[in-house]
Amino acid sequence: MQKYYKIYTYGCQMNVHESEKLAAVLSDKGYSSCDDDALCDVIVFNTCCIRENAESKVFGNVGALKNLKAKKPSLVIAVGGCMTQQNGISETFKASYPFVDIVFGTHNLERFGDILERYLSFGKKIYEIEKDAPACFDTIKPKRTSFPNAWINIMQGCDNFCTYCIVPYVRGRERSRSIEDIFAEASTAIESGYKEITLLGQNVNSYGKDLKGGENFAALINKLSAIDGDYRLRFMSNHPKDLTKELVAAVADNPHCCHQIHLPVQAGSDRILKLMNRRYTVEDYLEKVGMIKKVMPDCAITTDIMVGFPTETEEDFSETLALVEKVRYSQAFTFVYSRRKGTVADKMDGQIAESVKKDRIMRLVDKQNSIAKDIAEESVGKTLRVLCEDKDKRGYYMGRDEYGKMAYFTSEKNVIGEFLSVKISDSQGVSLFGDIVR
Ligand code: 5AD
Ligand code: SF4
Repeated sequence: MQKYYKIYTYGCQMNVHESEKLAAVLSDKGYSSCDDDALCDVIVFNTCCIRENAESKVFGNVGALKNLKAKKPSLVIAVGGCMTQQNGISETFKASYPFVDIVFGTHNLERFGDILERYLSFGKKIYEIEKDAPACFDTIKPKRTSFPNAWINIMQGCDNFCTYCIVPYVRGRERSRSIEDIFAEASTAIESGYKEITLLGQNVNSYGKDLKGGENFAALINKLSAIDGDYRLRFMSNHPKDLTKELVAAVADNPHCCHQIHLPVQAGSDRILKLMNRRYTVEDYLEKVGMIKKVMPDCAITTDIMVGFPTETEEDFSETLALVEKVRYSQAFTFVYSRRKGTVADKMDGQIAESVKKDRIMRLVDKQNSIAKDIAEESVGKTLRVLCEDKDKRGYYMGRDEYGKMAYFTSEKNVIGEFLSVKISDSQGVSLFGDIVR
């Protein structure tokens, strides 16, 4: 009889990729993917704890399965991901969500197959949270779900301890994967038809610091340039303090690298950046942007920005707005600061009222939208080389150019996974519309 699974994924691309590994484990065991909870035999929650709203969603979505589990006791409900790696969370599931069968930590992900097998054999609930991060990872070949893009993990963990961030606590210290492993995975993906490789790490700029051979991220980018084919290379995320001239040169020299760099700034006030332990000033940051633009004047810069960090004043916030205007980000992921237990910022005086945070995020989003809209308008009349990624619900195919601009167009035949020339005739907000001209 056919068996089905569903994976709920929360959070970042790292989690999307880790869900591809969980999917591989389940499909190896004979399960097929299915969208309908009621038909499933296994439901896995791959959680994220970076912000409180992601966590609340998990509790809500897991809670919603209580009745289904009561009607179908054979359903296996598993909760994994970085949320479970925090102190006390496993106990919360045990006490308040007793219908959850398996809770496994991020550090236990590579062993999910054994854990599930054990549960199915003995039927005893499993709470398995390894405190120490494993040195070895990426033993599971992912079942990719993002064609034509292939996510490739190059490192795990983070050593930076930005004062607001929970990641170093739940994902452990930085561990880099070997260049050979990464090269092999990227070559295989391209040989099997993937057109875009995105290298993933919390801070890819510190790749290799723990390796014995003296490799660094620039060397990895140089090494990957030996892989032939019609494909694009992207990477994320970067820490501005670690972005080197050598890396910018490697990106410029590798014809596959997109001229788009994600450079999270977080805030535009030196005082706040210091409290965040970001270890750069606005001036240092702008120097890095200048370093990129000097070598690649066309390079698009994208970012992450936060509002409402403890003690942020209206003046600090206006400096963030000024920086956004100065850099003209092609895209910015904007966040409201969220208190995370165990972090330094959680204990700081001067936490900002929710109403103030809400007002600031709205003003920040407005500012960024108007910049992105102007950038989009500049593309009208131009022909972009896009990689078609998907078809939306309205029937438009969609694809991004190397700078990350998204174009919508129609086609009689399926063009997902193809590089196309699209002449842009209209822009609506940040969306570009056009026609394939080949
Ligand atoms: N609150 C809000 N945003 C956060 N981020 C990380 N931690 C927090 C937090 N506690 C954001 C940062 C980071 C992105 C991945 O998530 O901007 O770059
Ligand atoms: Fe968190 Fe800072 Fe590490 Fe990014 S660099 S994962 S924000 S601690």
